[in-house]
Amino acid sequence: MPTSGRTRIKDLLDVERLDNVSNPVAVNGWVKTVRSSGGVSFVQINDGSSLADLQIVVDASCPDYALVGNLTTGCSLTVFGVLQESLGRGQKYEVVASSLEMLGGADPEEYPLQKKRHTLEFLRELAHLRPRTNTFGAVARVRNAMAFGIHQFFQQRGFLYIQTPIITASDAEGAGAMFRATTLDLDNLPTQAGHVDNDADFFGRPAFLTVSGQLEAEIFAQAMSDVYTFGPTFRAENSNTSRHLAEFWMVEPEVAFCDLDGLAQLAEDFLRGIFAHVLETCPEDMAFFNRFYDKELIATLEDIANSDFERMTYTEAVRLLEESGESFEFPVRWGADLQSEHERYLTERKVGRPVIVTDYPSAIKAFYMRLNDDGETVRAMDVLVPRIGEIIGGSQREERLDVLQRRMVEAGLDDAPYWWYLDLRRYGTTPHAGFGLGFERTVQFATGMQNIRDIIAFPRTPRSAEF
Ligand code: 4AD
Ligand code: MG
Repeated sequence: MPTSGRTRIKDLLDVERLDNVSNPVAVNGWVKTVRSSGGVSFVQINDGSSLADLQIVVDASCPDYALVGNLTTGCSLTVFGVLQESLGRGQKYEVVASSLEMLGGADPEEYPLQKKRHTLEFLRELAHLRPRTNTFGAVARVRNAMAFGIHQFFQQRGFLYIQTPIITASDAEGAGAMFRATTLDLDNLPTQAGHVDNDADFFGRPAFLTVSGQLEAEIFAQAMSDVYTFGPTFRAENSNTSRHLAEFWMVEPEVAFCDLDGLAQLAEDFLRGIFAHVLETCPEDMAFFNRFYDKELIATLEDIANSDFERMTYTEAVRLLEESGESFEFPVRWGADLQSEHERYLTERKVGRPVIVTDYPSAIKAFYMRLNDDGETVRAMDVLVPRIGEIIGGSQREERLDVLQRRMVEAGLDDAPYWWYLDLRRYGTTPHAGFGLGFERTVQFATGMQNIRDIIAFPRTPRSAEF
């Protein structure tokens, strides 16, 4: 019965020659559709292993034939039968059932996933069932392949995969927007001299969900040279856009003995490598996205995998934007951060490829970025791609203790909680650099999906934490 001896549908559909298959086979899955004609029923089932369904043929010779009448979309099934070349069109193989067992029914009056196409917005309300649809099955498989491709990319280059804490007492980005993690009773807060008594909290101090594993990754880079993290990060920004989540996954490589040019090259090789990987390992799912979501998708990704990224400084980018003749919603001005509309103009219209923008004004970037000799800009880097805008943010790090301390004062940061971060500059400091890749934005780009909420299984956004 179920698990032992079960064959994945993908493995059956992929067999090259039927005599390689030891018939009869056992398969499981959920019913997509049932169709009957002339005493024969055709049941399409899917077990999540591939985009394509497996066709089960049931006729009167099957002792469980009477059961077919009870099969409806969404019910789960075990089938024994013989894999054979399909007599019908639309599939290479089919299984002629010798026995059927229904494991769990799905009342057709109630089952919310009907045969027709549902909107993505509707499916977001059904995050527990949407993995059964073609789109979300494909997203899940592509996401899996990209996660694996990311590990493979770094492992092949000798990077060490490290795990950094989710609960932290320091704000890595120095920008606020953190979720507090507390065990204090919010209805009955302990106070000390009119203020919340943080000493009574679990850690004896305020603690938060991390916005980035970078600072801890730097610790390990300062010992192991090449490291990366791949984990969840949290931002309490009230951003209701198609590119923001309150909980998202970030990939953060950190490299010692490396400057910004080395880092930009790593980012480029990395993005090109993972796009090539997904095209190679998920051809069916990618063809699906290309057909239903973005007709240019595969061509765009192939192009990116095979061509150099454009590089320009922030100052050049501002000049290009000023000369563009476009009327932007947010004015362009040296010193102001680039907005998504500016980023998209640069990468979509001006260059038509990914762009790496470097050397932003220090005032709009995090305290840890290395100050340039001009005293005004830092060795920051954002990688911008069409449709999404920023997909990677990174920098060379400030390795000079005195400059770093000055920058923290300017940023209004209390340096006491960062004593260990400063120690790294006291003992054997090195030029080093790292970046953060937004994993969902990357999968969003690779699939052509419009909204980041359809890239993560259970999206967390302002006023939404169902499932
Ligand atoms: O540019 P960010 O804020 O950089 C950092 O956090 C650095 N500490 C990374 C580093 O240098 N190690 O975030 C990095 C990336 C962004 O480029 C974007 O792709 C993604 O994380 N990102 C988000 N993705 C989804 N929802 C959000 N709210 C995001 N905020 C950032
Ligand atoms: Mg950024």
